[in-house]
Amino acid sequence: MANWDEDMPVEAAALRKVPFFEGLTPEDLDRLARIGRKRQFAAGESIVVEGQIGGGLFIILSGSASLQAGGKTHTLGPGQFFGEMALLAGKPRSATVTAAEPVEAMTLETMYFRPFLIKNPSVAVTILEVVAERLREVQDRIDRTQAATEG
Ligand code: CMP
Repeated sequence: MANWDEDMPVEAAALRKVPFFEGLTPEDLDRLARIGRKRQFAAGESIVVEGQIGGGLFIILSGSASLQAGGKTHTLGPGQFFGEMALLAGKPRSATVTAAEPVEAMTLETMYFRPFLIKNPSVAVTILEVVAERLREVQDRIDRTQAATEG
C-alpha cells in the first residue's frame, strides 16, 4: 500500500494513529479530520464541565485526562475518548473532565459528527462497545458495594 501518510493533512495523520478509527478508509479519515479541530489543554484545565450544555466528542491524541464518576476516578489516555454521553443523549455533561497533564485532543462537534456516525456504522459500534463497557464497570461496582452492605 502506498505511504499516503506523507500526503495527508496533519490532522488525518494524527487520527490514523487512533485505534478507534483504524477501520476507516483514507477518504473517511480525511473527512473526519476536516470536521475535527485539534485543541490543547494545560495541566489542571477543565476540558468539559459537569452540567454544561453542548455536545461534542474529544479524542485524546496525547497526554491524559481524569474524571470522577460513580465514586471513582477514571483516567483516560491517548486513543481514548470522552464526551460521547452528552453527544448521544443530548443532555448536559455528566462529569467534569480535567487535563491531568498537558492534553492534545481532537474535538468533533455533534452537528458534524452525528451524520458521520450514520455513514460509518463501524465507528458508531466502537463507541457503543466502549459505552457498554463503562456502564458495565459502574454497574459491577454498585453491585459489589450493595453485596458488601447487605452481607
Ligand atoms: P459527557 O457526559 O458528555 O461528559 C463527561 C464525560 O465523562 C462523559 O461524557 C463520558 O465520556 C465520561 N464519563 C462519564 N462517566 C464515565 C465512566 N463511568 N467511565 C468513563 N468515562 C465516563
